[in-house]
Amino acid sequence: MKAALHNLGCKVNAYETEAMQQLLEAAGYEIVPFEEIADVYVVNTCSVTNIADRKSRQMLHRAKTLNPDAVVVAAGCYVQAAGEALLTDGAVDLIIGNNQKNELVSILDNFFADRSANEALIDIAKTHEYESLSISHTAEHTRAFIKVQDGCNQFCSYCIIPYTRGRVRSRELADVVAEVTALSKAGYREVVLTGIHLSSYGVDRKEENAPHLLELIKAVHDIPGIERIRLGSLEPRIVTEAFVSELAGLKKVCPHFHLSLQSGCDATLKRMNRRYTTDEYRRGCEILRAHYDDPAITTDVIAGFAGETEEEFSETAKYVEEIGFYEMHVFKYSVRKGTRAASMPDQVPEKVKGERSHCLLDAEERMSRAYRERKLGLRQTLLLEEPIEIDGVRYMTGFTPEYVRGAVITEKGAGETVNGIFKEFLTKDVLLMVEK
Ligand code: F3S
Repeated sequence: MKAALHNLGCKVNAYETEAMQQLLEAAGYEIVPFEEIADVYVVNTCSVTNIADRKSRQMLHRAKTLNPDAVVVAAGCYVQAAGEALLTDGAVDLIIGNNQKNELVSILDNFFADRSANEALIDIAKTHEYESLSISHTAEHTRAFIKVQDGCNQFCSYCIIPYTRGRVRSRELADVVAEVTALSKAGYREVVLTGIHLSSYGVDRKEENAPHLLELIKAVHDIPGIERIRLGSLEPRIVTEAFVSELAGLKKVCPHFHLSLQSGCDATLKRMNRRYTTDEYRRGCEILRAHYDDPAITTDVIAGFAGETEEEFSETAKYVEEIGFYEMHVFKYSVRKGTRAASMPDQVPEKVKGERSHCLLDAEERMSRAYRERKLGLRQTLLLEEPIEIDGVRYMTGFTPEYVRGAVITEKGAGETVNGIFKEFLTKDVLLMVEK
């Protein structure tokens, strides 16, 4: 039988889609591209905004149109948010909520045997089990994203994720180590530890001495063959002197940190129910800069959150330049039904959100270029990933530990490292390296 999968949403979802694909492969399904005729379509949905809901529905309908006889499986966050009502949608045959994805194959078997068994949905808020899923390879060649944690206890006022993913659940440290060890043996050199709220790794564990994020990083650091460890999005409050001084001793950890900001204005942060202040955030960046030489600090910012005044936005615009980010992902605030922020007064008009987002994107371009420019003339290491061709010349591209993209003319292939000096900009955001 043929199966096709489509992923929507975040890196955690992407990991789960790969894991589901590998479960199907192991069960004998032939995996085909989503645009081809398949017997089973799995859409791993996202529900982070109203638009994500709509895209999820569109992909489910697309699958049914591609093959009206196929079994269309809706999985993941949109399923969790929409519930059984989704089964009244003619395009959907089977729903699988979060924490049930590892049962995909047996759920399909049951469905083929008895077409009435068409839902696998649990009350995610009451789940304490980490759903075990794993991957043995990924679409990328040198870097693998590893899910180590699920769920979130933060309840930011704009976010639906605590409702679709449930409470914090941490993966067993030994499972993470086993997966990363296998990936290392398969040739992967870099791992990115990800989760829905990575900083909460271990907080759900009651045992004394239960490992938290730092212990997890140390365990992954000990795995032979792994040369680089990157961390997914971190909560600013975890970036303390104690945490960073230990981290800085782990040389495989890349000096590339994503600290989620969302707003540079304390009043806005409060309405967002973010639990740090701009001072605390600034302190975190100072600590990182004291322990690492010009680390890459990246972030997310929301433009035009509910009630954001001109003054509040100006504070944010000033603050981001003051911090000086290497990369900044800018999102226009998008209302999500069912969250507190959706019913807050003084919603910002779309046009104003657009203007604010433009203003932040301009700042991002300047800051990012300035950061890359500081790398010109420096000796750096690239972990090679893929070939590109520019003006008839073939290069291998890769990233420095700071995640600056470079290109070099070399005979070496993906997974190998190259040392050299950055000479100039090859394209808007790729630096040309000369091998030395
Ligand atoms: Fe979307 Fe669920 Fe991820 S809502 S962003 S797929 S956690």
